[in-house]
Amino acid sequence: MKLRDLYSERVLKMRSSEIRELLELSQQPGVISFAGGLPNPDAFPAEEIKEIINKILSSDEAAIALQYGPTPGLRQFREEITKFVEECGIKAGIENTLITVGSQQALDLVGRVFLNEGDIVLVGLPTYLGAINAFLAYGAKLVGIPLDEEGMRIDLLEEKIKELKKEGKKVKMIYTVPTFQNPAGVELAEERRKWMVEVAIENDLLIIEDEPYRLLRFEGRPLNPIKYYDDGYHVIYMATFSKILAPGFRLAYVIANEEIIKKLVIAKQSVDLCTPSFTQMIALHYIRNGYIKKHIPKIIEMYKRKRDIMLDALEKYFPPGCKWTKPKGGMFLWVELPKHISTIEMLKDAINEKVAYVHGKAFHVDGSGENTMRLNFTNPKDEVIEEGIKRLAKIIEKIL
Ligand SMILES: Cc1ncc(COP(=O)(O)O)c(C=O)c1O
Repeated sequence: MKLRDLYSERVLKMRSSEIRELLELSQQPGVISFAGGLPNPDAFPAEEIKEIINKILSSDEAAIALQYGPTPGLRQFREEITKFVEECGIKAGIENTLITVGSQQALDLVGRVFLNEGDIVLVGLPTYLGAINAFLAYGAKLVGIPLDEEGMRIDLLEEKIKELKKEGKKVKMIYTVPTFQNPAGVELAEERRKWMVEVAIENDLLIIEDEPYRLLRFEGRPLNPIKYYDDGYHVIYMATFSKILAPGFRLAYVIANEEIIKKLVIAKQSVDLCTPSFTQMIALHYIRNGYIKKHIPKIIEMYKRKRDIMLDALEKYFPPGCKWTKPKGGMFLWVELPKHISTIEMLKDAINEKVAYVHGKAFHVDGSGENTMRLNFTNPKDEVIEEGIKRLAKIIEKIL
């Protein structure tokens, strides 16, 4: 039997994540990996979680935690989320709130609900690989908009929308990670956030605002989310507990217009019926008891220290002609090497020298970015970061 003849057209469009494959290589013993997007396990609040689980399972709440739940999420958890996002400047009722199995599921549901074959989605150059793959699976055509140190260039975004309009093509949505972007680490400037909403309203399109790193700020004043400037229709906001609690929970939420939430809920019903009640219940107590407010500063302290070690090592070892971002938060740093160096070709040498990264082309929907790479500073232990950067610098110097 030829399975290829049986697969749906949709499946033939799906791509495996280059990062997931690379992660396997980078998990070999002795490899210093800057490749994954993994939080540091030392940042998982295991003791608090144990205490909460014991409390839940020895009370009436066990019956809720171990039962199927409503598709949009447990009512009490959604209520807590509306309070949680209010602190970031987002006004939402529970009718605007959907709990999902990670924000990766939210991206997939957005694709299911909004994307037809050939629909145009504007994304950053570079952008998050998981979003690229989720939208491609629904036949989207992804068009890249360059970033600079203040995030997506909204002037170029506007120009691109006009250019496509002239060709008779309509853009359906903009996908953006405005705060400490994965992969580039940059933050979208405040005035650009407002401007993006104006562009969306003027052109009748949606903004997908993906905010996993918002609360992992090491320095500077928090900016309003893009959703803050929304008229209630144009921005679909999503955020996750993966980076502030634990990715093993697979817990995230979407804030959007009620009508959009209803459609996302219908789509989710046939995917998994509901998000696990158990993890929602734990997260609910985690927020209510104030643990999250005490815990996030500890994560920030650890990640800031690691970022600084990496920045110092880059300064010390990387040869002239290399540039990198200095992120004010998040988990990633973005490196640009001299134009003639291919970080794809360099990766074989890197793995031989037992150091790993993700090559930048993976994050570029236009096939560019071959001389760039993403470095994760949160997962490796403090004492190996300098050695890893030293190994990378040696490989680059050899090519130069
Ligand atoms: C920008 C962005 N969106 C979504 C995700 C997926 O997060 P989750 O673990 O909530 O599925 C990630 C994970 O790294 C991410 O960086």
